[in-house]
Amino acid sequence: MGGKHSNMQKNKVTILAIETSCDDTGIAILSAQGGSASGGEANFKVLSNIISSQIEIHKQYGGVFPAMAKREHQRNLVPVLIQALEEADLLKAQNPKPKTQPNPKSQTIKNILEREPELLKKIVPFFKKYEKPDVDFITVTNGPGLEPCLWVGVNLARIISYFWNIPIIATNHIESHILVNLLPLSVIPAKAGIQSSTHKTWIPSQAENDNKVKFPAISLVVSGGHTQIILVKKIGSYEILGETRDDAAGECFDKAAKILGLDYPGGPIISKLAEKFVLSPTSHKLPRPMMNTKDYDFSFSGLKTAILYHHQKQNKKTQKDKQYIAEMCAEIQQAIIDVLIKKTVQAAKDYNAKTIILGGGVSANHELKTQLLIKIHQDLPNIEFLFPQIDHSTDNGLMTAITGYFHKKETTNWQDLKADANLRIG
Ligand code: KG4
Ligand code: ZN
Repeated sequence: MGGKHSNMQKNKVTILAIETSCDDTGIAILSAQGGSASGGEANFKVLSNIISSQIEIHKQYGGVFPAMAKREHQRNLVPVLIQALEEADLLKAQNPKPKTQPNPKSQTIKNILEREPELLKKIVPFFKKYEKPDVDFITVTNGPGLEPCLWVGVNLARIISYFWNIPIIATNHIESHILVNLLPLSVIPAKAGIQSSTHKTWIPSQAENDNKVKFPAISLVVSGGHTQIILVKKIGSYEILGETRDDAAGECFDKAAKILGLDYPGGPIISKLAEKFVLSPTSHKLPRPMMNTKDYDFSFSGLKTAILYHHQKQNKKTQKDKQYIAEMCAEIQQAIIDVLIKKTVQAAKDYNAKTIILGGGVSANHELKTQLLIKIHQDLPNIEFLFPQIDHSTDNGLMTAITGYFHKKETTNWQDLKADANLRIG
């Protein structure tokens, strides 16, 4: 026992994670120890997990404009970093007072942040004011995602690495949506607004609970940018079995909401309005594209077009009618869920999966989780089902930190790190 404990202490690392792949600016600091590629025995302590959402800004335009999101990340990153370090008790002002002569590293920092002038303006005083924090690694999402947004996070990671000499681990956003499921459910309370969720006692990964992560697993990752069915052989070993050929499931929710005159992001609004309508055999039926094809691919753009045509056929009064909108929302949600569940369960059967893992922003959808759970109980009663707690479904820094932890042996140096909008997991 004693030996095991001291081994785990030796393995303990603190990771600072940066996530800017889309429209959430997330920074988390995680202490972690133990664990292996088979998922066993990792222990986590969430020192901080700060998310600054840009939804209010993008709402006005009905979607995310990458250039605008990039500017917001530049503005938000340093305040979010300060808050994350502060909550983790790792923010230390320099003592004695900082020297006034220019730092020899400042020219390189300027070069790295050539395209992020607003971030440069904020990071220079930050480096002058604070000491190097006690973190072992920086990890950053370098793809997939919106390229201009990814670069802001990547370049922040690069300058922190260069300035304080801390190694970087590059992480894949899709893998992070899967591995966030290693956290046990409901252990970390979240607050509204700029979200912060810390949990400063050690929590064991799912692998140590009754809910052991058994491999192989089938993961359905459904977000605003991706819809993929992934075979998870073990942590770090993946194969994409199928994916969307056009729009992602979250994108379909967002575009459908726009057609119906609802706000961005569409997923949460559609699911809320859908609660107000119980579908019946006489309800309007939308198509379930590719539901019966023998592959694991998806296509949602035809569904979007069907929604558009049906909506355009209604008169102006009906288009605004609450009952009609609720019926459309319920049917849109159900059409998407039907296809997602059919293909996921089929993949789990075909690959003899022991676990089904749900991830990505659309995994916040209550009906999707409930109906998938029921289907698994009916068809595959021996399979475990993991889904993230609701505030870990959408993008956050903590998911990046967990992935970084499992890849801590694969560090990159700051000169070589690049954003890759089309990074693949398998
Ligand atoms: O993972 P995420 O935060 O960002 C990407 O990596 O894309 O996912 C955002 C997506 C949006 O399309 C949003 O509409 C969708 O997740 N979403 C939902 C729900 N909450 C967020 N979709 C359906 N139901 C929800 N409750
Ligand atoms: Zn995401």
